[in-house]
Amino acid sequence: MEDVKEEIRARLPVEDVVGQYIELKRAGRSMKGRSPWGVDKTPSFMVSPDKGIWHDFSANKGGDIFSFVMEVEGISFREALEKLAAQAGVELKKYSGGDKKIAQKKMRLREATEWACKFYQVCLTKNRPVCEYVFYKRNMNKGTVEEFRIGYAPKDGHALTRFLKSKGYTEAEMREAGLLNQYGGDLFRGRMMVPFIDTNGVIGFTARILDKGEPKYLNTPETLLFNKSRFIFGLAQAKEAIRHSGFCVIVEGNMDVISSHQAGVKEAVATSGTAMTEMHLKMLSRLTSDIRLAYDGDAAGVKAAERAIMLAGKLGITLSVISGYGDAKDPDELIQKDPKLWQEAVEERVPAVEWLLNKYEEDLNLSSGPGKKEYSDVAMRVINFLEDPVERKHYEKMVAKKLDVSVEDLLAKKVEVAKPRRLKEVKGEGKSDVMRTLEDNLLAIMIYGGGVDVGVELAMPEDEVKLGELEMIFENRYGGWEMEALMVEAEELKRRWDRERVRGEIKVLEKKLVEEDDEEEKKMIMRKIMEKRKKG
Ligand code: UTP
Ligand code: MN
Repeated sequence: MEDVKEEIRARLPVEDVVGQYIELKRAGRSMKGRSPWGVDKTPSFMVSPDKGIWHDFSANKGGDIFSFVMEVEGISFREALEKLAAQAGVELKKYSGGDKKIAQKKMRLREATEWACKFYQVCLTKNRPVCEYVFYKRNMNKGTVEEFRIGYAPKDGHALTRFLKSKGYTEAEMREAGLLNQYGGDLFRGRMMVPFIDTNGVIGFTARILDKGEPKYLNTPETLLFNKSRFIFGLAQAKEAIRHSGFCVIVEGNMDVISSHQAGVKEAVATSGTAMTEMHLKMLSRLTSDIRLAYDGDAAGVKAAERAIMLAGKLGITLSVISGYGDAKDPDELIQKDPKLWQEAVEERVPAVEWLLNKYEEDLNLSSGPGKKEYSDVAMRVINFLEDPVERKHYEKMVAKKLDVSVEDLLAKKVEVAKPRRLKEVKGEGKSDVMRTLEDNLLAIMIYGGGVDVGVELAMPEDEVKLGELEMIFENRYGGWEMEALMVEAEELKRRWDRERVRGEIKVLEKKLVEEDDEEEKKMIMRKIMEKRKKG
């Protein structure tokens, strides 16, 4: 990475790059111009052609051509790199030797995981009691067990490790494939094994305990192969059916997918419980626009449906909810009663927004003032996510009628609901805009980057809106990136974050300095500032 940056830097003088955005005038060895961020009264933007750097004294930031383009265009490092590489006539491919190494490693991990799957499959056939669990208790037939490649992980803590060693895989490779526990033994022991299969083969497992116990399911951690926020369980097996019948059913449990396929509803997939991401929906929306959620009516199900609606708005998807499975706990239970009931259930669906509004109505007392307020709060929040104006109007009317108010009254309220949230965002915690942007990018990578370590301690936001925002950031900036590129970006962001933090600390000290009267104290603060300047 440093190589390619050097090459581009060598070909593109900083004054040329900056000169595309602002007018520069010579001032001795440097060049001067007006800040592109528009906060200076006199020219405060300096460029040093010798050093290849820039500094904006009014906005208090600076760096090289990459950071300049990132800042001024508001794009990521990767995007800036691509843009400048194109200008410099440097081919990025030539420098991506790392990608090849990663591809080779991935291949090895795929092979090891594939072997593990085969191993577990064989172990199942040899174990009577587990076969009983699979075939009788879970009611899977032979075809299903074969198609979903169900297996069994022996109790002995080193069965798989020994097997893979005999096949030539190192402990490091097994670890990277997510097959080992922290002590170097088998991660999965005494569990029914259900592989995660994508278009290229097995990438991980979910493993169910046979009796009662915790955790019920143990899953492969995030690895080079397995990324929870991208993987859709059952999609490899369901793709054909989804294309063919033009709809897709999202269920909560992986076992529900398997049962559903066996019951003839092969359009079923699952997204690790209710943790659906925009990536999941986007992938499915490429196959069909009719997506049916088979979520529970419990709190988690409602939250998940809200989230899905929030994500679906801009993808042009028709989301509906299947809820007609009576007192069965989940699709699997319904199918165990009678597969026909499930086949019928997937046809009986209500638009997701309607389902959600009904849920809210059930939970709140609409004849009381506070109940009405809360209902309109949550209802308008959901409706706000609808992109289609006609659809939005439809629900606004519906909600207004429920509350016995006019649509105008309702919309007046909408503004009130929206305002405080924005204000809070703008105020922040005294952090600079740059800092906030950097943190958002880092968080986006941390949460949606499939296990990239960002090396910064950031609090995980719990607010759904914020999470949605971060996911959007990830999708827009880093969608489709390889792990290696994400790692490089995270490193770069962290560097800038560190620098930014030190800069913030200096600012605080400088303010203190101005306010301080005591000469000794002043000196102390000065020393601290100098120290920090060296670091930054
Ligand atoms: P459920 O507990 O509803 O699973 O969790 P299920 O499919 O009904 O399982 P059975 O029928 O009891 O075997 C739904 C999903 O949540 C995730 C899994 O993805 C599961 O498919 N989950 C649940 C875990 O990852 N770990 C757990 O311990 C439990
Ligand atoms: Mn179940």
